[in-house]
Amino acid sequence: MSDIRVKIDEIAMAVPDNVLTNQDLEKIVNTTDEWIRTRTGMVERRKSDDHTAASDIALKACEKLFKRSSLRTRDIDLIIVATVTPDHAFPSTACILQHKLGIPNCPAFDISAGCTGFIYGITIAKQFIENGSATNALVVGVELLTKITNWTDRNTCVLFGDGAGAALVTPAHKGEISEIIDTYISSDGKYGNLLIQQGGGSRNPTSKETVEKNMHTLYMEGNRVFKIAVKSMGEAAVRILERNGFTGDNIDWLIPHQANLRIIDATAKRIHILPQKVIINIEKYGNTSSASIPLAFAEAVEDGRIRRGDLIVLDAFGAGLTWGSVLLRY
Ligand SMILES: CC(C)(COP(=O)(O)OP(=O)(O)OC[C@H]1O[C@@H](n2cnc3c(N)ncnc32)[C@H](O)[C@@H]1OP(=O)(O)O)[C@@H](O)C(=O)NCCC(=O)NCCS
Repeated sequence: MSDIRVKIDEIAMAVPDNVLTNQDLEKIVNTTDEWIRTRTGMVERRKSDDHTAASDIALKACEKLFKRSSLRTRDIDLIIVATVTPDHAFPSTACILQHKLGIPNCPAFDISAGCTGFIYGITIAKQFIENGSATNALVVGVELLTKITNWTDRNTCVLFGDGAGAALVTPAHKGEISEIIDTYISSDGKYGNLLIQQGGGSRNPTSKETVEKNMHTLYMEGNRVFKIAVKSMGEAAVRILERNGFTGDNIDWLIPHQANLRIIDATAKRIHILPQKVIINIEKYGNTSSASIPLAFAEAVEDGRIRRGDLIVLDAFGAGLTWGSVLLRY
């Protein structure tokens, strides 16, 4: 066990300006506002323009972050970007962001853990800091899922949106209440094909055929993913509470991944937490994958719902399939 305790120092978010409503989607595919609202809880989402890439939105979130913190970019010695929609396959979006922010030489890398990416990132940063390999980490969840959306597939095109959230993960000073108490991450690769971008990698290199077959867009078996998501997110939340001696009653806020309001409700019920203690913004942003938790977290800090010292559970599920949770005092 390390003597170093680790906390989330600050958190910030950014989204593109352009809003895509359910009514807009009614004009693109055979869907209705009523279906989307009742089956997902979504009302609108953000869509970036043709010139914007993941590092551009991530940069906006980071600029807000550094305005709020006493830390400067020169203090950062670890950069982790969680994304499945990087600027390029390589170099990593973390390296691109490092350059844009003017952060001096340090480890910078992307991680691919789907919608659980931010929780994986926090887990990795915590361990780098605890074992003395880093002091101040920048952890970003950024996703431009509308760039890999199949706009002819009503099963998926209504679900996803763009955004970024960024957190500074730093040592907690003596006597300070803020702390990342525990993290839990897991995965089960046998379900990988349920949520996948099939084209563009070494399995199916980009070709005329992969483009014509729409293999570069997101494919999902929503119904099967839904069932596993309910089970895994519930399990991840229960596990992190139980092994730290807490129940849903002790928690000030549950911040779940915003994939579907019905999954969020089922997770809240599983840990017996009151609905008013669940942070939900799915109606505004849809599913922003690895950005969804930091987006919801930062928004609730900005509007004053979440305060220093609040006990919080982060809980996510995503492509891999992956899942995980974080217990923290903000
Ligand atoms: C995608 C999801 C919203 C679909 O909801 P569902 O209740 O499971 O719906 P189904 O997939 O069973 O489809 C039911 C019907 O609605 C139809 N449907 C699907 N999308 C539709 C849309 N946008 N508008 C109207 N009808 C739609 C289907 O075609 C199907 O019609 P059928 O019965 O005639 O075949 C839901 O499964 C889900 O949220 N899954 C998990 C998503 C997720 O977590 N993803 C990423 C992990 S981070």
